[in-house]
Amino acid sequence: MIILKNKEEIELLRKSNHLVAKILNELALNIRPGITTKELDLMAERLIKKNNAKPAFKGYRGYPACTCISINEQVVHGIPGPTIIKEGDIVSIDLGLVLDGYFGDSAITVPVGKIDSEAEKLINVTREALFKGIEKAKVGNRLFDISHAVQMWVEKHGFSVVRDFVGHGIGKSLHEEPQIPNFGKPNQGVRLKEGMVLALEPMVNAGTYKIKIKEDGWTAVTQDGKLSAHFEHTIAISENGPDILSLLQE
Ligand code: MF3
Ligand code: CO
Repeated sequence: MIILKNKEEIELLRKSNHLVAKILNELALNIRPGITTKELDLMAERLIKKNNAKPAFKGYRGYPACTCISINEQVVHGIPGPTIIKEGDIVSIDLGLVLDGYFGDSAITVPVGKIDSEAEKLINVTREALFKGIEKAKVGNRLFDISHAVQMWVEKHGFSVVRDFVGHGIGKSLHEEPQIPNFGKPNQGVRLKEGMVLALEPMVNAGTYKIKIKEDGWTAVTQDGKLSAHFEHTIAISENGPDILSLLQE
């Protein structure tokens, strides 16, 4: 069942998602060669607590950290640790938290210093694909219109969409129905309604869409070792079109 949210609930979700955006921005500003992923995660934990929120990922199915930090060929769910970030890396940071009972979830991929042009294109296409999906998130469209728009944009640029992970509904839980694949046929899936709140999160690989999970049981990496990028926004479907809740406020 898809849980629809009223206007007050959407404002609470906006607050938690604004906080996610603020913390993600702070982390991005602190990414530089030499910093470890663990240091970034500790920074996230401090900021979450300072703002009276709680991490959403820590403890989720035994996940051990507040963020997922996935570098280069890592697709998602990289566990923060002693890994040192270096010049030329692309770093995806995924952050979830709960504030006053409502969840926020967003992810960005950032370049570290100078990156090669293929990596830059991958980051741009992935971000653009997310926005292509968001454009379709309006009343009357169907769910897989979003999926299809994401897939088309990615494949048109010669990249591939990951099949093994999906976007999701979000609200008083991190994961609610529906699941939102980043590929699919247009004009299929449930009809989109006002009050649906969705976390859209394309994961895009430079080569094959196939992934494997590392021995830690979490880290997803590309099977061919090529780069991967990830962007995520939490959005509400409103009478005025898509309302992006996880935007950074001035
Ligand atoms: N954004 C991801 C998701 O919605 C991150 C989850 S990490 C986990 O599934 F640790 F919580 F699984
Ligand atoms: Co998510």
